[in-house]
Amino acid sequence: MTTTSAPATAARTAHPLRVLMCAPEHFTVSYEINPWMDAATPVDVQRARAQWDGLRAVFERLGHAVEVVPAVPGLPDMVYAANGALVTPQGSVGVRFLHPERAGEAEAYARWLEQHGLGPVHRPVHVNEGEGDLLVVGEHLLGGHGFRTGEAAHREVEEVLGRPVTSLRLVDPRFYHLDTALTVLDDDPEHPDVAYFPGAFDEASRRTLEELFPHALLTDDATAEVLGMNAVSDGLHVVLSPRAQRYAQQLEQRGYVPVPVDLSELLRGGGGAKCCTLVLRR
Ligand code: ARG
Repeated sequence: MTTTSAPATAARTAHPLRVLMCAPEHFTVSYEINPWMDAATPVDVQRARAQWDGLRAVFERLGHAVEVVPAVPGLPDMVYAANGALVTPQGSVGVRFLHPERAGEAEAYARWLEQHGLGPVHRPVHVNEGEGDLLVVGEHLLGGHGFRTGEAAHREVEEVLGRPVTSLRLVDPRFYHLDTALTVLDDDPEHPDVAYFPGAFDEASRRTLEELFPHALLTDDATAEVLGMNAVSDGLHVVLSPRAQRYAQQLEQRGYVPVPVDLSELLRGGGGAKCCTLVLRR
């Protein structure tokens, strides 16, 4: 296990977040667009709702402001709010889904943002799955590509927001969005910190990550396999899967406070805590 000692001792501070979520009112697994989804196994809708309520309650207990976009019938994956947009101080970028099954979510999110003072929302020309693949870490904007969002979208986002995107290629279909392979632990530009599963990236991207974050926390297969990387951090508390026990230990050693939240029913759609959470940074 490669972890470096320097940031492990850093003092951690919680920053209040403003997040957007979407209740799993119409959640189900009726199509399969990632390896986690199995349309043959029925989803326990009540359980999914109770787990999602639990996630929301944890955010509120941690002092975060939670806003909720109304769920739209016929859009079961809308619960994964991270894919709804990328909202930064430089502007809001909407999304364009690769799969037609999710296409309708794009306007639902864009309109909600515009109605709540977070517009204008740029409607992308290229496939772009929002914060699932575009993660802000201090002054860096990391862009995943290989499965959903394309490199063309990274260039488009650069133009719209006027800030560079570092493109990282994902190579393992289980980790099809960047937020399934990498957790932003601290997005403070003074001391940015990330954790990632190296096996999810191609060699060139691993080198890029090593250069950008030489002290990053590296996670193992056991963590990645339970979608452990799909976690939400406020700089101190890290909301993650209770199955990611090794990851929780690593986080503790680094000064973070792991906050386990069971979202097993939502994992059936291929998402965890981060997938259900869009951070509004304006
Ligand atoms: N079923 C959804 C899909 O395949 C899950 C999305 C998970 N979201 C995320 N940010 N990783 O698109």
